[in-house]
This record gives sequence, C-alpha cells and structure tokens, in this order.
Amino acid sequence: MTPAAFIAGLPKAELHMHIEGSIEPPLFIELARRNGVKIAWATEAELREAYRFRNLQSFLDLYYDGCRVLLHPRDFYDVTRQYLARAHEDKVLHAELFLGPQGHTARGVPLAAMLEGVFSAMDDALGEDGITSGLILLAQRHRSQAEALDLLDSAMPWADRLLGFGLGGAEVGNPPSKFVEFFRRCRERGFKVVAHAGEEGPASYVREAVELLQVQRIDHGNASLDDPALMALLASEQIPLTVCPLSNLKLNIVSSLETHPLKRLMDAGLCVTVNSDDPSFFGGYINDNFAACQHALGLSRHEVVSLARNSVVASFMPPEASKTALAAIEAYDRNAEAWTTT
Ligand code: ADE
Ligand code: ZN
Repeated sequence: MTPAAFIAGLPKAELHMHIEGSIEPPLFIELARRNGVKIAWATEAELREAYRFRNLQSFLDLYYDGCRVLLHPRDFYDVTRQYLARAHEDKVLHAELFLGPQGHTARGVPLAAMLEGVFSAMDDALGEDGITSGLILLAQRHRSQAEALDLLDSAMPWADRLLGFGLGGAEVGNPPSKFVEFFRRCRERGFKVVAHAGEEGPASYVREAVELLQVQRIDHGNASLDDPALMALLASEQIPLTVCPLSNLKLNIVSSLETHPLKRLMDAGLCVTVNSDDPSFFGGYINDNFAACQHALGLSRHEVVSLARNSVVASFMPPEASKTALAAIEAYDRNAEAWTTT
C-alpha cells in the first residue's frame, strides 16, 4: 500500500484544530445567507482565492472577519458537526477542539449560544460516529489578561464539560508572561492548559509558556529549535508540541515542507504531533498534513506510526480510552500491508 493509503486508515487523535477555522467555503456562504450577513465574496472560488496569506496577522484579519457569520447555536452546531464528520473519515478517534469565544461575545453572541451548539454537535458525533471530543477555550492574546479572566469566570457554568483553556491569536508582542495570573487560576480550578507559542514568536515565548504558564502542551513550538537548552527541557519533560505543517506553509512560517522542522523536532526526542490548525483555510485536514510531511520529509512507516501514537499520549483522553486507542494503532500497523514506494 502507498504511504498515503496507510495514513488514511491509521487511527489517530487531533489536538490542534480551531472550530472557526473549519468553516468550509460552501457552509460559510450558506451561513452568511442564512443570517443575512454581508460578505465580500460571492462564490466559493472567490473565497478560496482570498485565502492567500502573508503572515499570521493577514490570516487573522480574514479569519476574525469571517467569524461574523456565526451567530446562533445552530451555526456553531453545523460547523462543529461538519468538522467531526470529516475527522471521523480521516480515522480520528478523538479530537480536542479550540473555540475563541471573545471575538463572538464582542459581537453580542452569548457564550451559552456557542457552547450549546458545539456541545450538541460533539454529543451527536459521539452517538453517530463514536468519535470522542473535548473543548478548549482560547483567550485572544492581543486582549488584556483582565478579559481572559472574565472569559474564565463566564465559563464556570460549563466547567464540568470543558477540557481546558489556552492562548491564541497575534503572538509577537503578546508574550505568555502577559497571562501568568489567568493560567494560574485556570490550573487552580483543575483545567488543562495549553498555549500557542513559537509559531511566529521566538523560543523565549515557548520557554515562558512552559515555565511561567506551566502548560501541558505547546501549540506549534517550531521556534524551540533555536534554543538547545529549551529543546533538552521539552525532551526530558516530554512536553508535547502540536505541530501544524500545512498551516506553517500557508502562513510563511516555513518556506517549504521540505525544510519544515517536524523531523528535526522528532529526531531530538520531543513528543511531536501533527494537526491541521485551520483546515478550511490551509488546504488540508489531518491526513493531508500527515501525507504531505511523509512525502516531503521522507518519513518512515515507524515515524508515521510514532506521530499517531504521540497524538494519543499527548491527548487529554482518560487512561482507559488512551490504552484502547494505542492498541488500535498497534493492531493497524501489525496488520496493514507493506509500503510501496511512490
Ligand atoms: N487562531 C487560529 N489559528 C491560529 C494560529 N495559527 N495561530 C494563532 N492563533 C490562531
Ligand atoms: Zn492554532
């Protein structure tokens, strides 16, 4: 079998995926029509043409503007359900999803409306496809820590259903150190904590996220390679990185997948995972990311299986579910045909 066919059937988890970044163009146009929201693009082709980005900020500008089409519980339901169905096709057994409520509440959408839609989509995906999922709320790092603390307080009625909190948005100039108190309170209340770091920002931001915020995972983390002592820390503590290769290519974090740091991070002994970030904007879901990296970096079957195993180990799944998922990966690898070279 080809490496791509092997990847297509390989059980895995996805740990870095923004719900707002998974609105496929046809659904985006449908939501705009349904909600009477004016958008600048009339067709799917025009929309896809607009998805050319210089850097993270040029993407975020379009992404936040596009969020205007999300207003009602049903909108959040449709986007989340569509992603989970697509992830299930990619043999994702478990997905940990990001949602950034602050942009939506600023437009007058109540948190209850967002969460009602997202949670019922997660319930239906579990019932219909057997895919498990969890939700992580992201604070936007260009906003203040006081606003992040408000987000935490406002989410308390749903504390039992939330996995945790994280940090996303415009990285440079907004270091993790700005959010020490927010993360301390999230941890104190028993939430898992993660942070985007080292995507456009420097290795020192990854170090701050680990040392000051005490995060359980780093989202992206590419810049870690610039600091050997940090690399040693990430390897010895096995703090996972949720790497997003096609996102990095589209946002010009890397100039080609052939030069992507994924393999160097793996070779240094880090717990690396592969994820899609904002799949509808960056031209690929999780299997597209796996297959493109396998091809560009010449990853071996053993390395591809390690990436799948890491996705389970790095997840916040309960131990029993994690054991079952790891066994499914091993069984798949044992029984799948040998790779043919393409
Ligand atoms: N929000 C959505 N995608 C993001 C990314 N790649 N970096 C930071 N914040 C984001
Ligand atoms: Zn992200």
